[in-house]
Amino acid sequence: MKGLILTNAYYDAEAALYPARRIREELEALGAAADVRRNDFFPFAVEGGALRSSLEGYGFCVYLDKDKYVLRALGLAGVPVFDKPEAIVTCDDKMLTFFALAGQGVPMPDTLPGLLCYTPSASVREETLRAVEERFGYPVIVKESYGSLGKGVYLAENRAQLASVAEKVKCSAHLYQRFIAESRGRDVRAIVVGGRCVGAMLRRSGGDFRSNIGAGGRGEPYPVGEELRAVAERAARALDLDFCGVDLLFGPEGWLVCEVNSNAFFGEFERVTGINVARAYAAHILQTLRG
Ligand SMILES: Nc1ncnc2c1ncn2[C@@H]1O[C@H](COP(=O)(O)OP(=O)(O)O)[C@@H](O)[C@H]1O
Ligand SMILES: [Mg+2]
Repeated sequence: MKGLILTNAYYDAEAALYPARRIREELEALGAAADVRRNDFFPFAVEGGALRSSLEGYGFCVYLDKDKYVLRALGLAGVPVFDKPEAIVTCDDKMLTFFALAGQGVPMPDTLPGLLCYTPSASVREETLRAVEERFGYPVIVKESYGSLGKGVYLAENRAQLASVAEKVKCSAHLYQRFIAESRGRDVRAIVVGGRCVGAMLRRSGGDFRSNIGAGGRGEPYPVGEELRAVAERAARALDLDFCGVDLLFGPEGWLVCEVNSNAFFGEFERVTGINVARAYAAHILQTLRG
């Protein structure tokens, strides 16, 4: 059976291309073929009142993109997709992720879903700013709900900074969150494949409060303790993910899930830990397909 590994059309960085190459390599080592393609060719269309697919000949898809239109169409077309379309869409939105994890025994930082503004000329309301600072104090985290590599995450130290960041994000999906001071500049990335945590990596920043590798953070191997494993695996299960990177903050009373990344980049993780992540994922995919 041949699979299709789809990547975002606009990715050029090695970190983004590496997972596709490695997953293909390991699928092939296990006897399955796969093509790697950029998602730039309209795999689906609505035509003549029906959904038309140009993906004949593929028995499954490893979707390393987040485009929800292609995901929905893949779901409608009945092609087995890794990760599952609904899981990718939920993970892409940090606030929807927190809602999906709520009540599932997964500790998370206290979070307020942002209130959308449809009038760019209107200022963020005084009541809103006051509610955020009364609940969380300073510094406080503000995040765009769709973002990665640390780019849409801000730390406001006082009312002036909070007002300015709130203005910046008010018209797009966002959230306010308690700043976990114990975790400043460091966190742990755990990778879960097929429900099992295969390893973890500590990430330290070079000074910034964010520890993303894409923003200059450095990784090192980190032991998978019992609590870390339980939290990471519970989060992956609650979101129905075949493969994910769970970001965990060092909370005052234990791990706190910061976000969950479907189809996370894993080049730095494999390099630093020596764990063959792609092999574990390829094996899980083939085992799932065999039922
Ligand atoms: N509530 C928080 N308290 C402390 N640090 C945080 C908090 N939220 C995020 N961070 C830091 O910012 C980084 C990026 O945040 P994250 O939500 O994972 O967004 P991204 O999708 O950009 O990686 C985290 O890896 C962590 O280092
Ligand atoms: Mg992250």
